[in-house]
Amino acid sequence: NHAVPVITIDGPTASGKGTVAVLVAKKLGFHYLDSGVLYRLVAMKLVQAGEDGANEAAAVRAAESLDPQFGPEGQVLLEGVDVSADIRADGIGLQASRLAVHPAVRQALNVIQHRARRAPGLVADGRDMGTVVFPDAPLKVFLTASVQARAERRYKQLLEKGFSVKLEKILHDLQERDHRDAGRAIAPLKPAADAFWLDSAGLTIGETVEKVLAAWQQRQ
Ligand code: CDP
Ligand code: CDP
Repeated sequence: NHAVPVITIDGPTASGKGTVAVLVAKKLGFHYLDSGVLYRLVAMKLVQAGEDGANEAAAVRAAESLDPQFGPEGQVLLEGVDVSADIRADGIGLQASRLAVHPAVRQALNVIQHRARRAPGLVADGRDMGTVVFPDAPLKVFLTASVQARAERRYKQLLEKGFSVKLEKILHDLQERDHRDAGRAIAPLKPAADAFWLDSAGLTIGETVEKVLAAWQQRQ
């Protein structure tokens, strides 16, 4: 299915990948893949089983048996239960980054990700969408913003979702996650060689989306 076009949007946590990717996909009528959800679901399964992301064998088992279901409004279901809100917890993101270092976990999740490449096209967001999973994507966006801006965005977002959080804790977790995601041996967060760099600091969501769409027009 290499004929199906893919736009990849990679970047650090809370850079705005998901928000921008959903809007770009809507505008183009493309499918949308939030690859981070898969890592978060594996984390959720481990937490429910009383394990943590450092347990490689348990993480690999959870990833290999993962069978995510998605509702019509993008809800995420695990064994029939809607876990859309629960997987957004800060602690789940942190556990996700711990189990994401295991090659066999990534391999199992890459299979699920490849299945999302369906006509007429796909917008995929994550850390290694352009570098590892869809290296032939015609447009690879690398979305950034300062660590402070990202921590504030995530803080607001979690408060709005009803989580009780502290900004300092969010900033700390985000730095730990950035460090682990960029430093791991396999599929680290890094811009693809042919990436289109986009710094969303000072841009509205709409402006960021417009820049991605303009870059896509240019590739056509
Ligand atoms: O997917 P990722 O973790 O990269 O980030 P997100 O969940 O899409 O965005 C994090 C938060 O930043 C959301 O609440 C967005 O509304 C907000 N955001 C923003 O304020 N300005 C942007 N240019 C992009 C996102
Ligand atoms: O929304 P946010 O950017 O905070 O994180 P996410 O995209 O939901 O991903 C959660 C964690 O999963 C990340 O910190 C990464 O460690 C891992 N992940 C990954 O390794 N590769 C991907 N393609 C997506 C997520």
